[in-house]
Amino acid sequence: MGPLILTSTEIGLELKTVPTPAPGRGTVLVRVEAASVISYHRDIFSGARNYPLPSPTPDGGLGFAGGFSAVGRVAAVGPDGSRHLANRVWRDGAFAEYVALPLENCHPLDEPRLCGQLGYSAADLAYTSYLSVAFGGLRDIRLEPGETLVVCPATGGFGGAGVLTAVAMGARVLAMCRSEAELARLRARVAATFAAGNNRVETVRVTGDAAAGNSTHLRSAMRALRRGGRVSLMGMTADFGDCAVAAKNLTLKGKVMYEREDLVQFVKMLEAGLFPRGQGGNSEMVEGNSFVDTMVFRLDQAKEALDAAAEHTGLGRHVVFKP
Ligand SMILES: NC(=O)c1ccc[n+]([C@@H]2O[C@H](COP(=O)([O-])OP(=O)(O)OC[C@H]3O[C@@H](n4cnc5c(N)ncnc54)[C@H](OP(=O)(O)O)[C@@H]3O)[C@@H](O)[C@H]2O)c1
Repeated sequence: MGPLILTSTEIGLELKTVPTPAPGRGTVLVRVEAASVISYHRDIFSGARNYPLPSPTPDGGLGFAGGFSAVGRVAAVGPDGSRHLANRVWRDGAFAEYVALPLENCHPLDEPRLCGQLGYSAADLAYTSYLSVAFGGLRDIRLEPGETLVVCPATGGFGGAGVLTAVAMGARVLAMCRSEAELARLRARVAATFAAGNNRVETVRVTGDAAAGNSTHLRSAMRALRRGGRVSLMGMTADFGDCAVAAKNLTLKGKVMYEREDLVQFVKMLEAGLFPRGQGGNSEMVEGNSFVDTMVFRLDQAKEALDAAAEHTGLGRHVVFKP
């Protein structure tokens, strides 16, 4: 079944029948087990968020499969192992039964360890798509065990993943957001899922009396840093100009996603058991005491999945397609 193809943002994702892609040189054909849906995919595929999309095909349509990160099984490999640059072979996302991917963008997972001993399902493991983005930024500013990190805002999909990842890395976290209810959920979740986690997360409620573009939460967090503090800017905001940068010798680094080495390291953390265990392969969730609360959809439920992803967001919440 599938893939879910975007030909125009007016129409949105459509389930199409296409031939199974053949893995070319340096690529691998992956049978998708779980493909992550993020909170603003709906806005990207409707054009409400002006994201750069792959160039149109000669017929003028956008014509590519939606999606980004996925967990799957190798179905076939290309005729040789030579590597092609990603932009020569990678156009489609993972909202599909099969997707052909450049070898350098695939990472082997230790299935007996992760799904056997640690109890993760494929849908659970797809939450790596959130955690690894946060890890890319935290590794980029060399977060060390025992250091204190401010995450702001902390209650979105990627912000929440930043809290979980930083605690798994051994840091103390100060989490900021507007909603006391979400902060209480965050504290309870971390306390329930990490040994001694409760001692390592404190929360601060910001007033929320300003629109996102005018809110001072980021600059307030920067002012709270020690002299010589490091900042990883991962949200798409330009609101980080503050005299604290010079006055406190701060280092600001922008980061999109992660490097391949970061993902290699992240998979080692996961396999080492530094995150909470899964539920023995059962992706049905128990709020408050497990790795991730995943909602699972079929590819013919595109609208339901995109709507759910926009709502079911925040720390430990995730939506996937299971083709
Ligand atoms: N650098 C990268 O590699 C990368 C990758 C993916 C995404 N991103 C970026 O990350 C951002 C999305 O992050 P996310 O998934 O965590 O967010 P999200 O799920 O869209 O949640 C939005 C967050 O923003 C907060 N917020 C919204 N309006 C606010 C206001 N007026 N004042 C204070 N806080 C406010 C919300 O807090 P409340 O709980 O108080 O509402 C919530 O924590 C986007 O900018 C996206 O472009 C970057």
